[in-house]
Parts: sequence; C-alpha cells; structure tokens
Amino acid sequence: MKNIQNYISEHKNRFLNELIELLKIPSVSADPAYKNDVLKTAEIIKTSLETAGCSTVEICKTEGYPIVYAEKIINKNLPTVLVYGHYDVQPADPIELWDSPPYEPVIKTTEKHPEGAIFARGACDDKGQMYMHVKAMEFMTSTNQLPCNVKFMIEGEEEVGSANLATFVKNNQEKLQNDVILISDTGMIANDVPSITTGLRGLSYVEVEITGPNRDLHSGLYGGAVANPINILTKMIASLHDENNHITIPGFYDNVEELSKEERAEMAKAPFNLDNYKKALDIDAVYGETGYTTNERNAIRPTLDVNGIWGGYTGEGAKTVIASKAYAKISMRLVPNQDWKNITQLFKTHFENIAPKGIKIKVTPHHGGQGYVTPINSIGYKAASKAYQDTFGKTPIPQRSGGSIPIVALFEQELKSKTILMGFGLDSDAIHSPNEHFGVWNYLKGIETIPLFYKYFTELSK
Ligand code: BES
Ligand code: MN
Ligand code: MN
Repeated sequence: MKNIQNYISEHKNRFLNELIELLKIPSVSADPAYKNDVLKTAEIIKTSLETAGCSTVEICKTEGYPIVYAEKIINKNLPTVLVYGHYDVQPADPIELWDSPPYEPVIKTTEKHPEGAIFARGACDDKGQMYMHVKAMEFMTSTNQLPCNVKFMIEGEEEVGSANLATFVKNNQEKLQNDVILISDTGMIANDVPSITTGLRGLSYVEVEITGPNRDLHSGLYGGAVANPINILTKMIASLHDENNHITIPGFYDNVEELSKEERAEMAKAPFNLDNYKKALDIDAVYGETGYTTNERNAIRPTLDVNGIWGGYTGEGAKTVIASKAYAKISMRLVPNQDWKNITQLFKTHFENIAPKGIKIKVTPHHGGQGYVTPINSIGYKAASKAYQDTFGKTPIPQRSGGSIPIVALFEQELKSKTILMGFGLDSDAIHSPNEHFGVWNYLKGIETIPLFYKYFTELSK
C-alpha cells in the first residue's frame, strides 16, 4: 500500500510514545481498586479514535466498565469491518518478579526482539495490539486510503469474562452489523513464521470450596480421625486425570471432535522445536495427554488445570493444624463443540459425587465461553493471508491457539459474521506473567499489515 512504510518511519516515535502513555495507566479490570484508571483508559481510547478520524465516537455505559464504540461509514454499499479489542489488563502480581515496574514502560532488547520490546503490563495483551488498529486507522483516514466502512468496539472487561459485552452485543445487533470482525489479541509462531489464528479454545472456570469440621483443629488431637479438607481436596483433584492424563469426568469427551490424520499431519507442518520449547521453560520433559504432540495438547485437546489452591497455615514456621476449609480455582480449556455450560455442570456433578462422607462441597462457576474455529477459505481469511504475504514476504500458516476469547463465538452467533484473528504477539511475550512485553518490530508490522487487510477484504468482497 502506498506510503505506509514512509508513514510509519515518519511517525514511529509518536506511535511508540502514545502506546507508552497508554501503558502507564493500570487498567486492571479484576481489582476494584483500579476503577478510576480503567475509566480513564476508556476516555483515552475515545480521544485516540477521534484523532484517528472516526466520525462517531461514544463511551457506552454498561453495568460494569464501558465499551468504547466508534465508526466511520463512508459508503453503505461498501463492506464494513468491525474491530474488537480490549483496554483492560491482567493484574501485575507478583510485582516482585518484574525486572522493571509494570506501569513504567521501558524498551529493552531480548533474544526474540533484537529491535527492542516494550515491557509493561498490557503491552501485548491487548493495549499494544489494539492500538495498532487505531494507528492503522489514522494512516488510512489521513492519507485518504480508507477503502471501506469501519466500526470499533473496544471493551474493558475481557480479562474478567466480557459478561456486559455479551449483553451489549445482543442489544445492539443493528449498530454492530458488519461483514467481518477483525481482532489482534492472539499470537503468531515467530517473526519469520507468520501465522493466522484459526481456532481458540473454550473455557469453563470454577472455584471449589471443601468444608470439613466446623473449625480449625489441633492436628494431633484430631488428625487421622476426621477428614482433612486439604488432604481430600488434593486427592480429589489428583483423581481428575488418569495415568494417561485423560480427564476422568464422565461425559467430558462426548462432543470432542477428533481431527483426521490429514488434519493432524497438516498441523504438524508448522515449525516447532521441542528442545527449544523445553529450554525456554527450563524443563527437562514435557507432560500431557498420551497420544498427542505438544502442539496438539495445547490446541485441539481439552485440558484441566488448577490455577490456584489454598487453605491451612502458610505463614512462617510450622503450625500443627487441620484447616476447616480448603479451596481451589480450576480452569478447563475446551475445544469447539464442547458446550461450556454443560461441561461446568458435568464437573460439578462429578466433583460432588467423588467427595467422601464427612465433608461438604461447594462448586461455584466463574465464567466461561465456547471455543471457536474459523475456515481458511473465507474472504476474510484470504484477505488476511494476502496482507501478511505482502508485509512478511511469506504465506502465513493457519494455527489453532490454546487461549480463549470467549466473546468470539458469541459474535458469530449474534452478528452472523466470521472473526479473523490477526495476532502479532509471540508466546514468549509473557502475557499475564511478569515482564510482559511486545516487540517494537511486531507493533509496527501490525500497523503496516492491517491497512492491507482492509484493502484486500474490500477488493475480494466485490
Ligand atoms: N488475549 C488473550 C487470549 C489469547 C492469548 C488467545 C494468546 C490466544 C493467544 C485474552 O486476553 C485472555 O487472556 N483470555 C483469557 C480468558 C478470559 C475469559 C479471561 C484466557 O485465555 O485465559
Ligand atoms: Mn487479550
Ligand atoms: Mn488476557
């Protein structure tokens, strides 16, 4: 596309500085202590979309954090691209594991990012990736190269389950009407191996509480004579996988789609080096379901993981005690066709069934969502593929990701359009972890590639 490279080199420093300012605000949706920061971030996004040339920009109130909506409709007969992203971020903890403060962005080089990466919470997930779209829009409007209509919907509750966005989408179907949804909130294989995400896993997130005796007990006086909630909880959790690392919940695999040999062979073509994978994580072996490769285990297979477990005495020294209660947070990643509400129910029933006498169980569902797969023969996919071809000089590989963006399945259900996941992050960018970062090269490459998607999508739609 004419001039995009020039435009980027001319405005590169401003593009970086604007993102850095955005990253300074701790828009943590999970923690009410950051409420004002989250709201302030929505205002900044609103202003940035106005500056980028959108004609209607509004902050749409919800029962939670607002949704920033913007549009530029140039011709009703042209296609409409709806861009989705999120301006909220994950909590930064554990803060002591960051090499630089999470809300004081710095640019440092890394092995994967010799041209530098911005280190800050939200750099990659999703402020940096979302803001690429704002800057691509600025380029297209200011150089008169916007080829179609655009709508933006940037939410502030993705990291806590998007409950209010679901309502907003259901209530605003006409306003949100579009021909394709474009999202940059995933990753790609490597900077020299571009890929387009064609699948996301679903999710069911539950919390369990085990209650034994009505108070904490002396572990000598009562130990061995009553059920210890922590002993029981860990035993119950351990029983959720068998010796082949299959999940033991009855009915869990009922709707899991088995990929054909051909599809698995196609997947296996994506470059992957197990030794480097292990080295990057400092582990001497991988672990998972028998019969599947690492890439299959985290993309096409459902999984169950404990995300947190607590109870009893964890302070300094020793305290001899049997705690009255024990807790765990458990996530299940699901594949398309597994219904997350059904899986949540199966988990609850099973967990209650395996509980021994003498304890009480409470299972509380948190949030969840359906998985998603998108075909590679759609106009949207083809347009994205051509765009990457131009800017990376290589045809991107379709890749199913293990992560979840639960709202994507709802978009398709309510708005009847396909989502294209053009992610520019790397798995090593440490999203949700300490030292999250986003490559400067990746940020600028995204800004360069996005306008081409619009161009090809409009051309192919004719
Ligand atoms: N952007 C991520 C999801 C993601 C990252 C998908 C990388 C594919 C590749 C998103 O912000 C996220 O973290 N989603 C949560 C689920 C949500 C309901 C909290 C997740 O996957 O844990
Ligand atoms: Mn995200
Ligand atoms: Mn996230």
